[in-house]
Amino acid sequence: MIVTKDISEIRQHHSQRRGKTCGFVPTMGYLHDGHLSLVKKALEENDECLVSIYVNSLQFNNTDDFDNYPMDMERDLTLLEEAGVCLVFTPDQEIMYPANFGSGVKVHKLSETLEGISRPGHFGGVSTVVSKLFNIVQPNRAYFGRKDAQQLLIIKKMVKDLNFNLQVVGCPTYRESNGLAMSSRNVRLTVEQREKAAVLYQSLQLAEKLIGQGITDPKDLIIAMRELIQSEPLANKIDLLSINDAETLDEISLIKGSVLISLAVFFDKVRLIDNVHIEV
Ligand code: PAJ
Repeated sequence: MIVTKDISEIRQHHSQRRGKTCGFVPTMGYLHDGHLSLVKKALEENDECLVSIYVNSLQFNNTDDFDNYPMDMERDLTLLEEAGVCLVFTPDQEIMYPANFGSGVKVHKLSETLEGISRPGHFGGVSTVVSKLFNIVQPNRAYFGRKDAQQLLIIKKMVKDLNFNLQVVGCPTYRESNGLAMSSRNVRLTVEQREKAAVLYQSLQLAEKLIGQGITDPKDLIIAMRELIQSEPLANKIDLLSINDAETLDEISLIKGSVLISLAVFFDKVRLIDNVHIEV
């Protein structure tokens, strides 16, 4: 497995691909089984898989979150080698954002709602770094988790609007045995918080159940979800609880069609996100 921070080495590898297809998985490292499920899918659907590990400062709107973002490069590289990845791109700040860097990519509208309101500038940072990575790696397909549903929609829109020559593939959310969505940030939770954070997925499942029972007013679902989350004292702040059209992210007043139910909740200083996509 090649590990490099050198863009010219990636380009050289690309020029030697000779028709071999490349599946790309961009990450910020501290890999878990959710990341590895994307790698597995990329390997199933392509001749080779390339992964990037880069904690992108531009997408953090909170310095505490950036400073405490976990890292373990050695362990990540071992996992990727075992998985069968051929190349890992590990750039640093000077390579991605040299002192005179002055451009940005923004997907309007989709970036300005939901997580975009709670985290101003976040999605501009994501679309900028992902477009740089796409230009560097030039993959045939790129794999993103539905755990970050809004991110996936934004990247798909960016690829379409800006004519990137690749296919974006969405992959299911990988969960811990109690239902908590896997995340690199989960390591910052105490054992008790990690256990109690199961309430987040339970609230999404409750909404799904109520929809199955015929509830059609999003407000009723929000009330029921809020009540369940607030019954857990360790869930100290609900930052986002929203029901939207799963394609446009517009707020909806009736549960019908393709629906995205998403939440962001703080457990102490750790902000956890999750969502479900329901077809009604
Ligand atoms: P990161 O949080 O490391 O996630 C990398 C990819 O793994 C994303 O596509 C994310 O949606 C996916 N992922 C994370 N947890 C998952 C889970 N439990 N199940 C399935 N997939 C999961 O998302 C980012 O990094 C960054 O924003 C990035 C796209 C790399 C740009 O900097």
